[in-house]
This record gives sequence, C-alpha cells and structure tokens, in this order.
Amino acid sequence: MGAFDYQKGELYCERLKVKEIIAAVGTPCYLYSHRALVENYQAFNEAFTCTKHLVCYAVKTNANLTILRTLANLGAGADIVSAGELYLALTAGFKPEKIVFAGVGKTGDEIYDALKNDILMFNVESLPELDLISSVAKKVKKRARISFRVNPDINPQTHHHISTGLAQNKFGININFAAEAYERASLDKFLEVVGVQVHIGSQITTVEPFVEAVEKVFRLLKTLKELALELKYIDLGGGLGITYNDEKPPTPQDLAQALSPLIRKSPYHFIFEPGRYIAGTAGILVTKILYLKETQVKKFVIVDAGMNDLSRPVMYDAYHEIKPVRESGQNEMLVDIVGPICESGDYFAKNRRLPLVEQGDLLAIFNAGAYGFSMSSNYNARPRACEVVVSKNQYYIVRDRETFGDLVSNERLLDIK
Ligand code: LLP
Repeated sequence: MGAFDYQKGELYCERLKVKEIIAAVGTPCYLYSHRALVENYQAFNEAFTCTKHLVCYAVKTNANLTILRTLANLGAGADIVSAGELYLALTAGFKPEKIVFAGVGKTGDEIYDALKNDILMFNVESLPELDLISSVAKKVKKRARISFRVNPDINPQTHHHISTGLAQNKFGININFAAEAYERASLDKFLEVVGVQVHIGSQITTVEPFVEAVEKVFRLLKTLKELALELKYIDLGGGLGITYNDEKPPTPQDLAQALSPLIRKSPYHFIFEPGRYIAGTAGILVTKILYLKETQVKKFVIVDAGMNDLSRPVMYDAYHEIKPVRESGQNEMLVDIVGPICESGDYFAKNRRLPLVEQGDLLAIFNAGAYGFSMSSNYNARPRACEVVVSKNQYYIVRDRETFGDLVSNERLLDIK
C-alpha cells in the first residue's frame, strides 16, 4: 500500500483515515506521510551508492522542523539559501559540516552566521559576493570554504519561472568565465576553494539536461586542472521532477545510471540537493468544499483552501491531482476548483473532471508536500494551515493552525496624528 491510498473508498494516510484526522484538526490541513518522506530520501540516497556522495535536502522545499529533523536523523545534509534556513537547519539537528549555502543575494550578516557555524561551503554566485565572503572571513579569522555555482547555459525544459541554468538567469557564474573566478579565489588566503556547484532548474523530467550539465562541469574541471586547481566536491544541485499529471520523470536510479559513466568511481565527492523528489509526494493538502456554485458558463467548487495555502497552480500553471477524500460514484462533473480569495488566480484546477461531490465534502490535493506550505502566506488575512505528520497509525500536529493573534503579532497598533 502506498502512503496515500484508498481502501473501500476512503483515503488513508499510512494506516489512518484522512477523514478522521481532519475531524480532529480541521481544514485546510497539510498532511505528510513520514514513511513516504523516509522512502523518498532513501531511494535517492541509495541510487548514488556508486560514488561518494552526500544528499543535502533543499530546505526551501518544506521547512517544517519535524520534516527537517526526520531527514537530519537519516543522515542527510541541508541546502540552505538564507540565514533563516540556517537557523531552521541547525535547530532541526543538521550537522553544520553537512550544510551548503546557495543564493545570489547572501548578506554580510548571513555570511557571518554561516562562517561562525562552520558550514561545509558557500556556493558563490558572483565575484562581489566572493569579495564579501573573503572580507567577512578575514574579520572572523577563518578561511571560508567556497564552491562556485556555475551557469552552464542549459535549457532544462521546465517552466520558465523555475529554470535557473540559462545564460539569462540571475544564477551562478557563466561557466565560460569560471576559470578566471577560480584563479582569483585561489589567490585569496581567506578562501579555500573546494568545489563546483550547478543547479539548472526544478521539475526536470528527462536526464539529458543533467548529463549535459555534468559534462560541461567536467570540461571545466579539466581546465582547472591545467591551472593546477584541484577540487574536492561536485555539487549537482536539485531538480529531479515528480509525476504531477502524466509526466514520466526519471527515477533517481535512472539519473544515477545516466550519470554513471561520469560519476562512478570518481575521485570527487558528489553532493545532491533534491527537494521536490523527497517531499513532493509525501504530502497532501486537505480542504473542505464550502459551496458548489453554478453560473451560466461554469461550475465552481469553492473550497476553504486558497492560493495563499498552495500557490503553485497560479504561479507555474502547475497541475495537482485532486480527489475526494471519500470516493463517490462514477458520475463526473466538469468544474473549476477555486478558493475563497479575491483574485481570479485563486484556483487549484480549471475544467477538471471531478466525481460528483457535495458541500461539506473533503478534497485531497495531491503531491503538495513540496513548495506547498513553504510558499504559503497570510494574504486576505488568512491564518496559515496546520501541518500534520502521520507515521503508521499515529498522527502528530507539527505546526498549529495560525490564530488571528498570529496575524498581527509583529504589528504595532499606533494612532498616528
Ligand atoms: N538547490 C538549489 C540551489 C535550488 O535553488 C533548489 C530549488 C533546489 C536545490 C531544489 O530543487 P528541487 O529538487 O526541488 O527541484 N517553487 C517552485 C520550485 C522552485 C525551486 C527553487 N530552487 C515550484 O513550486 O515548482
């Protein structure tokens, strides 16, 4: 049985009926399967046993502390992009020597925090950033371990908002000019040049862009060798896609197989930064139908989750499978599934076939474990959803639903005359 499966028409998360959990915690609710999370991590990790490697989970994907703790306990490292994520990663129990820090806009304070905590390395995205890291390292009397994130100008064939390795994207250093950057860094006594990183995008559904990127990285390594520059780490970023609709993405094993001629028995230490692959299928968003509304041209199913809870459909035109928590008959209706927010972009599905449902029924929005809660907001003064982890026949509330008090907890109510 999978982590989310139907038995006698009822959706289960592991061994618990979703309906029963929801009766206790309410909607909207993010529900995660502990088992799916563990299995996804293990599948990824085990696929690359052909080479020395470390899986650094991309914290941005789903930063719930219990999710992070689960992965840290399995031996994962963390890929972070802010001092906030560093704080979360350390709080959850990730070892500093397994943390890598990416992002085009690291501030001096963030660099300071990361250096003080002795993280594994910075994935440096520009020369001004390199200079700042060096000056902070000098101040704290440390040598900063750095990799350059290189931009290989590769089209990962994914949504344009989530492709990152094209020359016009803001990320990384153009791979053709990277050797100069390495030379410069290697002359700096406050920097220790240890690796190279490449991350070309997300929800990638074929192996070719990965292979192309790694080939380009190896060409760079050859050039660097000629300059007497030897690296230890090759960080291949994240990006492996999952099935939301009818995509057939490679499995981690397929990816390992495709990269095998390049990475097998390699002297390098490989780092991977998967996010979506680990958390995506491990979560659903459960929402309740508030109203069925029929206009002259459309049928709407209005639910109590909104684009503030899950913004992927409007942001990336993303497809998420949606099914009733209790399976109903064969008859179907053609509907738009929409939230309560005052924007036409507040939808989860358009022109979707859904079994006949009624007011009060629960719907499960699948594959919502990645970039779901972590991208949620309080728009329209909506308290954010609760998060629940299920393990076998137990459920644990790992984040309470926000209160109205939470909405204004950082505000100062002033009567300014
Ligand atoms: N490493 C770096 C440096 C990244 O920027 C990302 C994701 C990852 C790793 C993890 O990538 P993954 O394995 O999850 O593809 N919000 C979008 C996805 C944005 C991805 C941002 N970077 C979405 O909902 O589709």
